[in-house]
Amino acid sequence: MKSLSVFAGTAAWLMTLLLIPAAGLRAAAEPFGETSEGTPVSIYTLENDNGMRARIMTRGATLVELHVPDRDGELADVVLGFDDVAGYESERNQYFGCTTGRVANRIAEGKFALGDKEYSLAVNNGPNHLHGGRDRSLDKVVWDAADVQTDNGPGVRFKYTSPDGEEGYPGELRITVTYVLTDENELRIAYRAKTSASTPVNLTNHSYFNLSGHGSESVLGHELTINADHYTPTDDALIPTGELAPVEGTPLDFREPHTIGERIDQLVDTPAMGYDHNYVINEPFGRPRFCARLKDPQSGRVLTVRTSEPGVQLYSGNFLFGQKGKDGKTYAQRSAVCLETQHFPDSVNQPDFPTVILHPDETYRQVCIYAFSAE
Ligand code: BGC
Repeated sequence: MKSLSVFAGTAAWLMTLLLIPAAGLRAAAEPFGETSEGTPVSIYTLENDNGMRARIMTRGATLVELHVPDRDGELADVVLGFDDVAGYESERNQYFGCTTGRVANRIAEGKFALGDKEYSLAVNNGPNHLHGGRDRSLDKVVWDAADVQTDNGPGVRFKYTSPDGEEGYPGELRITVTYVLTDENELRIAYRAKTSASTPVNLTNHSYFNLSGHGSESVLGHELTINADHYTPTDDALIPTGELAPVEGTPLDFREPHTIGERIDQLVDTPAMGYDHNYVINEPFGRPRFCARLKDPQSGRVLTVRTSEPGVQLYSGNFLFGQKGKDGKTYAQRSAVCLETQHFPDSVNQPDFPTVILHPDETYRQVCIYAFSAE
């Protein structure tokens, strides 16, 4: 008996060493299959003291799962995604959870000039360039990853070096994206980039949220607040006119909470087909400040977004088409909402918008904090 209990004691000690390493090593990596080209993909799991769990894969540095407690402590996965890499490679994937870039959102006709040089990028959204291109945009490549210990807690850091000329963008761009899950139920995403030549950079995370759980029928009952007095009006192809217009008196006014569904019908016959608008967040950008609050009255889950960026694209999932996602769930039109913190669309062609040009002597930095609570 004695030797058994010694063995059990030793085993428990070993388990402690293997499974509960010193505080801070709560990021565990597992294989997540491979791409159609045979590149292995890994997935990292971050878990905090409240049982909240995030899973992020190396393809596209993509947030695949995010399990968040409701007012009774019940967890639900609140982001859209797929069970395997093939799902992410398929036409069902509309940038679910990915790191988006090199330039997120639209560039008019895929064209811009730097100095006296003109650049032409892939046109993949009507007449325009969207979300970094067609074949090697940041959502489609496999990133390197490693556990890290940051000031805000343990996390996983993804690295990717985009070669000079990839998707038509100048300069070799070295990017890191660090996800940290804090014990305050915040998922913090920090971006950094360095370039070898002047180039536009505008990164974001493209998670689709439904705070009742992914696959829930609709997001129209979620209550939304956005800290913005202005938005950037667009032409019919969703390219900004350059103007900053007041939200006051329009269905875009979320300075006080409104459900997403309350006024969306007024936008159905517009080119955006619902909400697909960039807001100019109040207060100077550069440091994280309040951007938006999304509340699901059913579950009580609340998402508060803070960002260092000047803008946020509100996208109400107008183009979701009932595709099958994780766990066989169906993603109906308007069953999820994106809050993409970023610089304004087509900034590279709008001299009055804050610049997205990164020069070799500078470091690109962005922080986006998705903080969860329940009430
Ligand atoms: C854009 C939408 C687009 C969606 C998926 C959003 O960021 O604003 O127009 O349909 O991404 O590609």
